[in-house]
Amino acid sequence: MQRHLITSAIPYVNGVKHLGNIIGSMLPADVFARFCRATGAETLYICGTDDHGTPAEIAAKKAGIPPHEFVAQWYAVQKQIYAGYALSFDYFGQSSSTANHALTQHFARALHQAGLLEVRTQRMLYSAADGRFLPDRYVEGTCPKCGYAKARGDQCDGCGSVLTPTELINPYSSISGSRELELRDSPHIFFKQSQLVPQLRAWIDAQDWPNLSKSIAYKWLDEGLEDRGITRDIAWGVPVPADLATALGEPELANKVFYVWFDAPIGYIAMTQQWATAVHGEAQPTQGLPLSPQATRWWYGDATSDVTYTEFMGKDNVYFHTLSFPGTLIGSTEPWKKVDSLKSFNWLTYYGGKFSTSLGVGIFSDTALELLQDIPNGADYWRYYLLARAPEADDSEFRWADFQSVVNKDLADVLGNFINRTTTLAQKYFPGSLPPLGELTDADQVMIGKVNAALAKLTAAHQHTELRRAVEETRALWVLGNEYLAQQEPWQVIKTDPSRAATILHVALQLMPFYAAVAAPLIPLSAAMIAQRFGLSAKDFNPLPWPEKFEILTTLNYQPPTTSGILFPKITDEQIADWEVRFGNQKV
Ligand code: MF3
Ligand code: ZN
Repeated sequence: MQRHLITSAIPYVNGVKHLGNIIGSMLPADVFARFCRATGAETLYICGTDDHGTPAEIAAKKAGIPPHEFVAQWYAVQKQIYAGYALSFDYFGQSSSTANHALTQHFARALHQAGLLEVRTQRMLYSAADGRFLPDRYVEGTCPKCGYAKARGDQCDGCGSVLTPTELINPYSSISGSRELELRDSPHIFFKQSQLVPQLRAWIDAQDWPNLSKSIAYKWLDEGLEDRGITRDIAWGVPVPADLATALGEPELANKVFYVWFDAPIGYIAMTQQWATAVHGEAQPTQGLPLSPQATRWWYGDATSDVTYTEFMGKDNVYFHTLSFPGTLIGSTEPWKKVDSLKSFNWLTYYGGKFSTSLGVGIFSDTALELLQDIPNGADYWRYYLLARAPEADDSEFRWADFQSVVNKDLADVLGNFINRTTTLAQKYFPGSLPPLGELTDADQVMIGKVNAALAKLTAAHQHTELRRAVEETRALWVLGNEYLAQQEPWQVIKTDPSRAATILHVALQLMPFYAAVAAPLIPLSAAMIAQRFGLSAKDFNPLPWPEKFEILTTLNYQPPTTSGILFPKITDEQIADWEVRFGNQKV
């Protein structure tokens, strides 16, 4: 039996994420985790918030509270929103946990022992007005690559380039706005990842990742992997331990913290340790390897591990997951589990433009849920639509009219209609009992054959984490049910041949829990509602086993459907018109 370790890129803690973040890593990872669990595989899906770094420190300063309080507030907010989307994390942790402090410091020491760290003096922008160095987002200015005027010291939002503060033209402090900046020397720890290029290349050559991920990784390797500064002159983060500062001959380093991109991916391991502590009651060891047995089982012993590790992320994260984080793991010379399958996404755009938190363009994840809060399975509307438009091969566009049409057509008209018609007809002609099953006809067998062909394709789509295909094949399964009813016309047959009508309706009824099982990774709330109609409890259902094939059962473990009613209320034209006015319906 395979064991699946799954992580989605941990969202920055500050603020509520927009829909692009949901579809860009967490939702696809959730679909895969749900699929893996349904197939019976031992599965661990880990995520959490990315707490450190300058953005959180700056935002806390603006809010007038200490960073740890700021982070605790937003962690709680984000956690609740993701629960609203039914994201089934086994643990949702925090990169600022003590577990991550210990692991990040462990890795830094291991890299030092492997001779891969070095102190280099960096010429840094220093602001006399602010009395401090200005790393990363503490400085803004004009991008040297594209001329965008509000580029940040770490990255340009105009062209996506990764930048260093000193590259910016006309830099100014993002705290005080001061332009009187000078260059001062500051010692920093560098990770000599250039020395790992041969090992990284050999490892990547052996990987079987989707194209987008692999080509991004090679591009970085081909352009030459530069050594990276892994410390910052800020106060919020994992401190450089004093013993390491001393060992590196620069005690002053103990006043600095590790760079957020150094500690964040290590956070995946640390959040697994948080899970081991919370769920298995295991404390993190303070001597030796800072990992308890349950966490070790997932993360340690690479060569002999039976774990398949799948990562989900936006394409801007690929560098960090294919080179920088694996570099840390490989460089430690310890047998850490490395990624086996890496799924990365392009961007979801808002009418072709960028979703932007700062400019208020697009729709936030909490607002999206609120719009549909009167519909018990409203979160599934978002899940289904976002998955149907997953930016896999290319960027894709969010549009309100498209949202309405996908939801109303696929969920309401196809799946909802089938469920509704079948239950209504069954209750009308065979009240209170399951319509009895007679002999299956050729037409029935043909339909069952088609269902199984589509199921095989759907299973393959899930195994390969192809979201759009998974949506298409799931929908194809629902369409087969509608076609079956349309061709078999039980409402006509009942007049002349009641027992044949009973068989048709019985077959159709057996499709319903099957549809619930295959739809559960995509729309778990609706799937549970369908299963409940058959008297299946949430417990039977969690997870309903992934069907190996669809066959007509002669003994059923469920009852005739009890309730009908609308499973997917439609989104109205008025609602869409309203939302278009409220959120905009064009490119900004
Ligand atoms: N917070 C980062 C982002 O939103 C992702 C960090 S992923 C990790 O882009 F690997 F570093 F954890
Ligand atoms: Zn730029």
